[in-house]
Amino acid sequence: MSVDAELSALLTETRRFPPSPDFSAKANAQPEIYQRAGVDRLAFWADEASRLDWAQPWEAVLEWKPPFAKWFVGGMLNVAVNCVDRHVAAGNGDRIAYHWIGEPEGDERDISYAALKDLVCRAANALTELGVHKGDRVAIYMPMIPETVVAMLACARLGAPHTVVFGGFSSEALKNRIIDCDARVVITADGGYRRGTAMALKPAVDEAIAELADVRSVLVVRRTGQDVGWTDTRDIWWHDLVDRQSPEHPAEPHDSEHPLYVMYTSGTTAKPKGILHTTGGYLTQAATTHRLVFDIKPESDVFWTAADIGWVTGHSYIVYGPLANGTTSVMYEGTPDAGGRDRWWQIVERQKVSVLYTAPTTIRTFMKWGEDLPAAHDLSSLRLLGSVGEPINPEAWMWYRKNIGGGRCPVVDTWWQTETGGIMITPLPGITATKPGSAMTPFPGIGADVVDNAGEPVANGGGGYLVLTEPWPGMLRGIWGDEERYRQTYWSRFDGMYFAGDGAKKDENGDLWLLGRIDDVMNVSGHRISTTEVESALVSHPAVAEAAVVGASDATTGQGIVAFVTVKGNVAGDPESGERLIAELREHVATEIGKIARPRQILLTPDLPKTRSGKIMRRLLRDVAEHRDLGDVTTLADPTVVNMIDEQMKHQPSTEES
Ligand code: WTA
Repeated sequence: MSVDAELSALLTETRRFPPSPDFSAKANAQPEIYQRAGVDRLAFWADEASRLDWAQPWEAVLEWKPPFAKWFVGGMLNVAVNCVDRHVAAGNGDRIAYHWIGEPEGDERDISYAALKDLVCRAANALTELGVHKGDRVAIYMPMIPETVVAMLACARLGAPHTVVFGGFSSEALKNRIIDCDARVVITADGGYRRGTAMALKPAVDEAIAELADVRSVLVVRRTGQDVGWTDTRDIWWHDLVDRQSPEHPAEPHDSEHPLYVMYTSGTTAKPKGILHTTGGYLTQAATTHRLVFDIKPESDVFWTAADIGWVTGHSYIVYGPLANGTTSVMYEGTPDAGGRDRWWQIVERQKVSVLYTAPTTIRTFMKWGEDLPAAHDLSSLRLLGSVGEPINPEAWMWYRKNIGGGRCPVVDTWWQTETGGIMITPLPGITATKPGSAMTPFPGIGADVVDNAGEPVANGGGGYLVLTEPWPGMLRGIWGDEERYRQTYWSRFDGMYFAGDGAKKDENGDLWLLGRIDDVMNVSGHRISTTEVESALVSHPAVAEAAVVGASDATTGQGIVAFVTVKGNVAGDPESGERLIAELREHVATEIGKIARPRQILLTPDLPKTRSGKIMRRLLRDVAEHRDLGDVTTLADPTVVNMIDEQMKHQPSTEES
């Protein structure tokens, strides 16, 4: 595995920030935590789980029949009660749960824990009226508005697993997810605000379920007031149904292993995987990591995860972790440049945000926009910064620490995945040193290592595959409806270890550096997109014969999608119709999957480089896309093909994302 030159330089340079003494003394986590969790990790997790309210205690902390884990076996609890009711019962009903900020300026709502409880109970009653029972799946396709959180918690309260589908996904993607987990009720909105305009959501739902007779109800929040199509027998406005419900709802405790949600994520095949998370273990890990990694003080902190609820980061660190800890969060609907490129810094200043958690892509975008924008605002309320979703390059890390964190805030680079449910590898502020670009060490009670091809741990200084060596509370319990795929994907590569799909390196001190995916999954702006999924979207277009997709490194988005396409017959013809076809194909992918999967660049080529056995050589195409010298091409059936594509690449500019 090749290590970035810049990264190796840093490894030897040992640029390192020790824990700040001011921070350490008051931090939630103290140094003995690693030792304590190391001696008895199950006792550590049991202590953490005890911080939640259980209606019935568990009999065993862990039952491990590889690769199937049960945590807090026999325990019963209700996630919504833990996230909301118990804070009200403890006298904190007046505390703000969310400072919600809509994209249009001045469009804001503060929601206290007491108000949230009221809303969640009404929504749970409303879903009950729609015939939702424990165990039924509910699809949620929403913008970033408070009702999205309310809908999730209402589902959790009833024990009806939700599947939140990111609002940027197409109707086709939504449809496939609804079918896969057989959801009968969909919660959506007329639309939401993004980049200064009202975008629509309801039409995508209408299209997705047009042929799905089993979907019997669509609950619609009025967010923008735009006109929507309406099917009287199926659609109902949120305000008509929810507002008239009782604000009381007796919550039933659920088994610790009861399904909480299914979150779809891209794998190496064309079909996304429905990652299943359950109740007790997931909530324990979301709450524990949130409290300790972000050093949360619920009485004083204002926490902001700037991500979309449609991704796992939003689930664990906008909803479940922060609410379980009784934290005040900021929730922002729109894009970073809506109302000015300093919109985030206006928000931090006005809401006195103390902890900010976001993705490297956004940090790199801010770098491009310049340091004057944050410098014009008072960001002194910030005390801790987090990064997630993709490898953070040392420059971006340093820029973040200096220009956003005023040189005083520790930066925690947190590695985890949809599958892990919560943070797995991270520094702990106040205890661990930090290094720009390194996620440092496994969280207490978590087992992670870097192994070679044979599954043997590599020595310090070596690189290999990231594995998780012990079951953990928030781990996925399976892939919805596909046990075999679960075994195959995660547990077949190395014996008894979870294969994460990431490359990693241990530095001289044994600290971990994540190097990105080693499979056919791309990471574009922190979003996981499968090369195969984009390829199959492309070949579903009538003009396309064959397609190969690679993730090429991109200075802002981490990776950009580059597609090489051969067309049937002579469809592309002259350059003009070629241009038209390329534009059409980009839109086609957006329709099939969503705008996030629209290729940055499409090259129409007469052929694709293949081995003699007919396998497309993606490695070579990546070299082409990244403008590298082509290495060994002797295994190719026809080496001239790749040279020709390389020439072509040099002459076609890439398309800037709109
Ligand atoms: C990548 C997002 C490097 C990684 C929470 C992983 C990271 C995938 C980091 C999961 C990090 C996430 N450093 N790479 N700090 N965090 N990744 O499921 O490749 O959307 O496998 O979960 O993102 O993406 P997912």
